[in-house]
Formats: sequence, C-alpha cells, structure tokens
Amino acid sequence: MARGKEIFGFTGFLLIFSLVIGVGCGGGSKGSVPASPANLSARIASTTEIDLSWQDNAIDEQGFKLERKIGDAGSYGVHATTSANSVDFTDSGLTPATKYIYRISAYNQAGDSTYSNEVTAQTFSHDIVNQDIDMQASDFECLKNMNYIGPYYLTNKLGADNLADALSIANYPQGGTFPPGTIIQLIPLEAMVKRVKGWNPATNDWEFFALAVTGTTTTIKSRGAEHTKNFANLNCFDCHKKAATKWDLVCGDNHGCDPLPATDAMIKAFQDADSRCP
Ligand code: HEC
Repeated sequence: MARGKEIFGFTGFLLIFSLVIGVGCGGGSKGSVPASPANLSARIASTTEIDLSWQDNAIDEQGFKLERKIGDAGSYGVHATTSANSVDFTDSGLTPATKYIYRISAYNQAGDSTYSNEVTAQTFSHDIVNQDIDMQASDFECLKNMNYIGPYYLTNKLGADNLADALSIANYPQGGTFPPGTIIQLIPLEAMVKRVKGWNPATNDWEFFALAVTGTTTTIKSRGAEHTKNFANLNCFDCHKKAATKWDLVCGDNHGCDPLPATDAMIKAFQDADSRCP
C-alpha cells in the first residue's frame, strides 16, 4: 500500500508541476502549429517496401508524424516520427500484396498541423527475383492485344501476378518500378521489355527494341540496353533516361523527357496501322 501511495504522490506532483509549467508558458507564447506538409507520394519498391516522400512547407516544425493504416478498413495510427526538415521515409518489412494508406502532419510545441493528402500503395504480390524474359520476334504481337494505358500499350508475359503488378504501377499516379516480363509499346516499331533484376542496372533492367512489322510478321532490327537506336537512328536510352527516377524510364507526357516530334493523333495513327491486328 505504501508503494501505491508513493506512486500516487509522484503522479500528483507531476500533475501540479505540469500545471505550473503550462500556466507559466501561457497559451499565446506557444506559437502556432506548423504549416502542413504536401504532395505525399509513395513508390512501390518491392513486395515488402514502400518509399514515401513529401514536401516540407513549415519553418517551425519539430518533426513529422507519419500515420499509416492497412487496407481501407484499417484505422490510422502514428507509424513513424521523423526529424525536422525530413522529406522521406522508407517503410520496410511490409506484407506482400497489401494495401497501405498514409498521411502525414508536421508538429511542434503548439500541436499538429492538418494532414497532407492521403496516398495508397500496394506492395508487389510476389517476389520477382530471378524472373527473366528473352523476347523473340514472334513474341511481339498486335498492340491492341495488350492493355491500353494511354497513350501506350502494356502487357506482361510472366504470368497474371506480374501483369497485375505492372498494371497497378502503370495506373498509379506516383509511378513505381515495373516487374520483369513487362512489355511497353507506344508504336509497333519500338518496345521496352523489363528483364531480370540486375540485368542492366543503368537502364533499370529495361531492354530496348527497334522492330519492323510487315504484314503479320515482326522482325527485331536491334535490341539491347544503352546502345539501342530507333528507326530514326536516335538512341532510346538518351531520351528515356531523362524521365524522373520514380517513373522507371517511362517518358509519358510530363515525366521530364524531351517531347517526341509526334502529336497524339500521329501516335494513334501509328497504333491503328498495326498490320498484325486482326
Ligand atoms: C527523341 C527521344 C526519344 C527516343 C530516341 C526514343 N523515345 Fe521512346 N518516347 C519518348 C517520349 C517523349 C515518349 C512519350 C510520348 C508520349 O507519351 O507522348 C516515348 C514513349 C515511349 C514508350 C511508351 C512509354 C513511355 O515512355 O511513355 C515506349 C515503350 C518507348 N518510347 C520506347 C522507345 C524505344 C524502344 C526507343 C528506341 C528504339 C525509343 N523509345 C526512342 C522519347 C524518345
């Protein structure tokens, strides 16, 4: 009992102590809460890792509180606290094929900012280590058999799980790294194919193809990593390497590559003219 009293006494002391401090500081002198962070984005790195980054908009934060929930039905809790001026966090040790949802706020002695935007990312469903694809001319097909992502077409020849992962990355507003077996084509004459992890780190394991199509037959004109050139003798990698890292060398409209000298209508005409299509 004596012990119980002692704890009570100590707690009571703490309570009074913090009241005194609280009153002493006075409401106004605590300042205001920091500006909230923005542009929280998540990049799917593997079956077990998601990389987060955000924009720090505050000058008076003590740090950030990253909140996470697992699946739409989960509930948010503070998952990590990062230091002042930090702008990224690696969330590792995750479960494969699981949806993680994040939001972040900045905090200081006055309290927490409002939350950033919310982002959702789903880890890869399965391990992609050692998976490879060595495309032969006859493996290329009518673009319209592939999935239209717009303006390009995508498929994955290493199974339904890889295709599902590739589609989720292609449709994910923050990009990500495509799994092996992914084939992306904007026009019948060019293709990017994702090889085994480690095949060529410089090109993120993409193999570039320059193709020719006559009737229903595809021919490989040239293939390789950094040195492949297209039908106009321009180097694929020189252009595609300008895409920001999170886009995995996919140029799209606004990922940092120099624009193509072709309008959307011209690209569509090339796609519609694919003579391999039924
Ligand atoms: C002059 C620069 C340039 C060269 C050379 C080039 N590309 Fe591209 N490529 C682009 C741009 C820019 C886009 C995006 C076009 C758009 O979405 O409007 C693109 C789009 C693509 C796409 C669709 C996915 C994406 O990145 O948006 C594929 C696949 C592709 N190119 C493959 C190739 C291959 C293979 C080669 C070489 C054989 C090649 N490209 C050469 C600039 C280039």
